[in-house]
Amino acid sequence: MADIKCIGILTSGGDAPGMNAAIRAVTRSAIYNGFKVKGIYRGYKGLLTDEIEDFKTQNVSNIIQAGGTILKTARCKEFQTPEGRQLAYDTLRRHEIDALVVIGGDGSLTGARIFANEFNFPCIGLPGTIDNDLFGTDKTIGYDTALNTIMECVDKIRDTATSHERLFFIEVMGRDAGFLALNGAIATGAEAAIIPEISTEVDQLAELISNGFRKSKNSSIVLVAESPVTGGAMGLAERVHREYPAYDVRVSILGHLQRGGSPTATDRILASRMGAAAIDALMEDQRNVMIGIQNDQIVYVPFSKAIKNDKPIDRTLLETLRKLSI
Ligand code: F6P
Repeated sequence: MADIKCIGILTSGGDAPGMNAAIRAVTRSAIYNGFKVKGIYRGYKGLLTDEIEDFKTQNVSNIIQAGGTILKTARCKEFQTPEGRQLAYDTLRRHEIDALVVIGGDGSLTGARIFANEFNFPCIGLPGTIDNDLFGTDKTIGYDTALNTIMECVDKIRDTATSHERLFFIEVMGRDAGFLALNGAIATGAEAAIIPEISTEVDQLAELISNGFRKSKNSSIVLVAESPVTGGAMGLAERVHREYPAYDVRVSILGHLQRGGSPTATDRILASRMGAAAIDALMEDQRNVMIGIQNDQIVYVPFSKAIKNDKPIDRTLLETLRKLSI
């Protein structure tokens, strides 16, 4: 193993439930294996502003159940410049940090990849995002909790949708990916999901209307992925007002509540396994990989693959949704 004595850890980009469980796992597993650990605050920004603290096992006590991230998070523009990354490197050297574990989504791991290559600095990524949009891992940390939150919200909206016999477009997060919308729709027995992955193939709204919605029911719930490609819930509702005025339509945008809350058992376990695996990976001399999970087995996914490739949706899920919404 290369000479690694001290490991820095940071969370970056949008927070996700389970990030704290991951911080705890990285910290404890590193200490267990004889490393020093330093917590870096506010993502890459903390490397520029020198917000770094020694982490002992007690620093991560009583956080496994907490949403958000005790390390705070940020999206750091300066780190996208060579000068910013040089500053970050100098800070790491000053603090004698020899390797970095970055917990975040696509943008954060892209930053880690560039930095690792530029300075030949060991970086390991953990997929922390509710969007589930990283290639090479079946699940990302936070996705399951967000999905459960969506399910609870949609169940509530269904009560009023049914009482008023209305059509509801419920917008969920996911950035450019439809995993939350599609699986959220299946979990709530929704009529349909409108997702970016198939937006260029078919006019999903026209298809929905021409199918006559669910003929045997008097209300309809449609989950819409937030991407501009889908038109978003507002865009679709405007279209319905214009093109299909017979429908009594309402919009609900779930927004940032999807990112909050105590992580589910699934996310806590995933984060704990991935956090421990990050330290295993460093000890096995792995570099510039994201920890993923495939068929319930931990895998190492090169950053280049995890970031560059579009993670495909499982089209059989779309078929299942169609079959079950008759
Ligand atoms: O990537 C996570 C995510 O929650 C996306 O689903 C969403 O598009 C975005 O972050 C929102 O970012 P912000 O909190 O900066 O508005």
